[in-house]
Amino acid sequence: MSNTSRTALITGASAGIGAAFARHLAAEGYSLLLVARRQDRLTEIADELTRKHGVRCTVLAADLSDPSAPSQIMEYAQAHGIAIDVLINNAGLSGKSAFADTPWPKLAAEIQLMVTALTELCHRVVPGMQERGWGRIVNLSSLAAFSPPGASLLYTGIKSYVLGISQSLDMELKPQGIHVTALCPGFTRSEFHDTMGTRDAANKLPALLWQEADAVVREGWNAVMKGKPVCVPGVVNKVVASSVRPLPVSLQYHLGNRLNPFKEN
Ligand SMILES: NC(=O)c1ccc[n+]([C@@H]2O[C@H](COP(=O)([O-])OP(=O)(O)OC[C@H]3O[C@@H](n4cnc5c(N)ncnc54)[C@H](OP(=O)(O)O)[C@@H]3O)[C@@H](O)[C@H]2O)c1
Repeated sequence: MSNTSRTALITGASAGIGAAFARHLAAEGYSLLLVARRQDRLTEIADELTRKHGVRCTVLAADLSDPSAPSQIMEYAQAHGIAIDVLINNAGLSGKSAFADTPWPKLAAEIQLMVTALTELCHRVVPGMQERGWGRIVNLSSLAAFSPPGASLLYTGIKSYVLGISQSLDMELKPQGIHVTALCPGFTRSEFHDTMGTRDAANKLPALLWQEADAVVREGWNAVMKGKPVCVPGVVNKVVASSVRPLPVSLQYHLGNRLNPFKEN
């Protein structure tokens, strides 16, 4: 089957890493179903990619912190005759306020977006991939899943879940032609820190810690195509991930508490 007859569903495609995935996969000839809340941004990207690469590009505005969103996306795809061959589970954000000070609905929305919706979309696309004997799933985890836990954030726990479930899914599904990769970027240029409200602190971090979104996407896509269940993109991030993991938990905790650049007190 050629790429032109395959479709990728990309969540969080209106900015950053998701938009970079859209550009990368359109250039490879994949048709796209782009999802995020900002329809105008999705439409702009879809128009650009259809013009440039002649691929079929469909957009759907959805809020993935709404529990009904994954089923609505899949119903839309079915109604429009779109089979999902590639799933890029990318939509995400991080809160920065202290756990105890954050209202529960805000924390619940983060879990719904990055844990439940991500897992439900995997569950909903896998049967079709099994029938066709081919599928690729990239779940956005983070270097935070390896590095010391930043104080007071749900983010580390959520991204550790994404890392773990992606590895398990890959083991279960690879014999059926479906590869699953946890993509674990470090600091990546996108709108992430504007949304989080940490742009000033982020701008003070050394340049060598940063990667461009398209470099992250290139490495992540190569990894899933080669069947690698975990991808930490970039040399610096690989060094961080491999040097922190073997440390005793007490030392990881101490380092995380001391070095978290976004800690407010
Ligand atoms: N940038 C980093 O340093 C970094 C590092 C490690 C991991 N990551 C992970 O990479 C992924 C992409 O982040 P990014 O850096 O590209 O950030 P970004 O530029 O802020 O993009 C986030 C995307 O997620 C979408 N999104 C957020 N909340 C949503 C919701 N409720 N429903 C639907 N879509 C939603 C946003 O679209 P709308 O606002 O239009 O809905 C946007 O398209 C995230 O999972 C993030 O955790 C980022």
